[in-house]
Amino acid sequence: MKFRRLSVILGLCLLAGTSVQASWFKESDLIQTGVYYYPEHWDESQWERDFKRMHELGFEFTHFAEFAWAQLEPEEGCFDFTWLDKAIGLAAQYDLKVVLCTSTATPPVWLSRKYPEILLCQENGTVLDHGARQHASFASPLYRKLAFRMIEQLARRYGHDARVVGWQLDNEPAVQFDYSPTAEEGFRTYLQNKYNSISRLNQAWGTNFWSQVYSSFDEITLPKTAQVFMNHHQILDYRRFAASQTNDFLNEQCLLIKKYARNQWVTTNYIPNYEEGHIGGSPDLDFVSYTRYMVYGDNEGIGRRGYRVGNPLRIAWANDFFRPVKGVYGVMELQPGQVNWGGINPQPLPGAVRLWLWSVFAGGSDFVCTYRFRQPLYGTEQYHYGIVGTDGVTVTPGGREYEQFMQEIKMLRHSVQPRNKQPKEYVARKTAILFNPENSWSIERQKQTYLWNTLGHIEKYYRTLKSFGAPVDFITEKVSLSDYPVVIVPAYQMADRMLVDKWISYVENGGNLVVTCRTAQKDRCGRLPEAPFGSALTPLTGNEIEFFDLLLPADPGVLQMDGKEYTWNSWGEILKPDAEAQVWCTYSREFYEGKAAVTFKKMGKGTITYVGVDSKDGQMEKEILKKLYARLGIPCMDLPYGVTLEYRNGMGIVLNYSDCPYRFKVPQGSRILVGSAEIPTAGVLVFSIGDK
Ligand code: GAL
Repeated sequence: MKFRRLSVILGLCLLAGTSVQASWFKESDLIQTGVYYYPEHWDESQWERDFKRMHELGFEFTHFAEFAWAQLEPEEGCFDFTWLDKAIGLAAQYDLKVVLCTSTATPPVWLSRKYPEILLCQENGTVLDHGARQHASFASPLYRKLAFRMIEQLARRYGHDARVVGWQLDNEPAVQFDYSPTAEEGFRTYLQNKYNSISRLNQAWGTNFWSQVYSSFDEITLPKTAQVFMNHHQILDYRRFAASQTNDFLNEQCLLIKKYARNQWVTTNYIPNYEEGHIGGSPDLDFVSYTRYMVYGDNEGIGRRGYRVGNPLRIAWANDFFRPVKGVYGVMELQPGQVNWGGINPQPLPGAVRLWLWSVFAGGSDFVCTYRFRQPLYGTEQYHYGIVGTDGVTVTPGGREYEQFMQEIKMLRHSVQPRNKQPKEYVARKTAILFNPENSWSIERQKQTYLWNTLGHIEKYYRTLKSFGAPVDFITEKVSLSDYPVVIVPAYQMADRMLVDKWISYVENGGNLVVTCRTAQKDRCGRLPEAPFGSALTPLTGNEIEFFDLLLPADPGVLQMDGKEYTWNSWGEILKPDAEAQVWCTYSREFYEGKAAVTFKKMGKGTITYVGVDSKDGQMEKEILKKLYARLGIPCMDLPYGVTLEYRNGMGIVLNYSDCPYRFKVPQGSRILVGSAEIPTAGVLVFSIGDK
């Protein structure tokens, strides 16, 4: 009987593989909050005081050993964990779990001096040196070997340590463009593996053009930026190679840790540079996390004080990009106050730090960690705020906002609802945006107009969706589309037949696809197919593309839709629709006056909307989506820019990044949990969604 019960439990665990993984984070915690600490920066006698303070403020975990390779391995092959043992032990005394880091962003000086070949070489020949950070090349097999030796020691020592909950690899690992001989060698090997024969490479890169033909892989070098007419098929592969170096390095670190780790998660802290092309590229990471800084001088916010609040979609977009990668995500660094590295480093508006915390929560994150507990007294990051100030004890205004957030979360933990308890109309609006950074790389090389901006184009749709109060997932081609009532495919320049077929079958089976200009115009090598321009999409849209046009900034074109006018100049395809299509928007002025810019048609059980033009301000895109969602009977909100609404755990979270108060109509049957219906600038409202 006992056995039977056990096997049933085991069976359930196997079936629910993902929920076993998600058990790193308890639903009943809602979100956990942590803070970076660098024991090596402070006198050992202060550690206990600092951990006690962290605990009193409400933090639940801390984060060690991010840049401490020199302390972990002071001499080659000699490891010292006494300081880390002590710090972990003290943290545990104050109920602080620990996230450990692999320190690979800062190799010690003995390493760089003894093995200078690991140093990253810039394209202009400058070899990076000791004295800053991130100067080692991920493409160097020797560097990897030395890094793995150190990581293995760490993992062996702490992999079984229940006080350690997880691992962060490296620090903000970026795609490196290393021009060292090792990287060049690595690029050749990559190409050899990819193409097998030089003739296939020649074909893929179109090397008959300008006598670029290669007779062996040894002749290939890294593309030079100074050569502005460099073969862009080659650049595409170089970027793929560069991304793969970062991805492989991280993945190998991860697998090494997993050899020892018991019930500990492994992630890293990416900067959300979506076009860089590596986020999500290390398959064995348990989930991806990001770092976010909101106020650093660029006026990205709304109104006069917007620069103190930040861009309203900056955290939302990161949430919607990172969450779908594995379903679970975390935020590893969030600014606690003033930073030191911006063009201008202003104080955040009172309330803004808490607003960002709630923004992270709204997206579904399981944890949020702030950079950093103490303000540094020396080194490159002097003037960077912490949770406490330069005296090590005075809590900063941002520190107080963290405290408030953590208290609010603890209060909400008394009655936690399931994560996916969300109103029906919210779920009905769920929309995916298909994204592949390679499209940006490719378009960027041949923009045809400097007015084009790929992310800006995508943002026009994203911003609209957020104003609808829609949950959005940025997804890759691997994800099944059928979970989404609407999928947007913006400027997806490189596609193959298989992908187009996938889109067709999504639509035929009832999906609603919105495809925008520039999509499927090139193959995966970036070549134009030998067929009428843009015709790869004709089986889907029914449209032929007569030509495309680009206009001068001072003389934008005009579009007509439902009696209203919109302007454009950065890309316009002149469409020849088939008989079944409805024309939703036409060009006026110019010699193609009256011709189609946007078409809509039904296909199978679904619909396909093709938007062949990029408007100046996103108004046309907004009207198209409004019209489409109305037709589909999908209920949408009309939130002003700066106000967002998300739902999780049976709660609605409304965030106000705008420069004036916003009054939210709290639905009947809902109860306000945090804040009030009148939400001030940088304010937050949390309400329970009731039981209907
Ligand atoms: C981040 C970085 C941290 C720290 C921080 C300062 O980009 O990951 O290590 O330098 O900036 O704001």
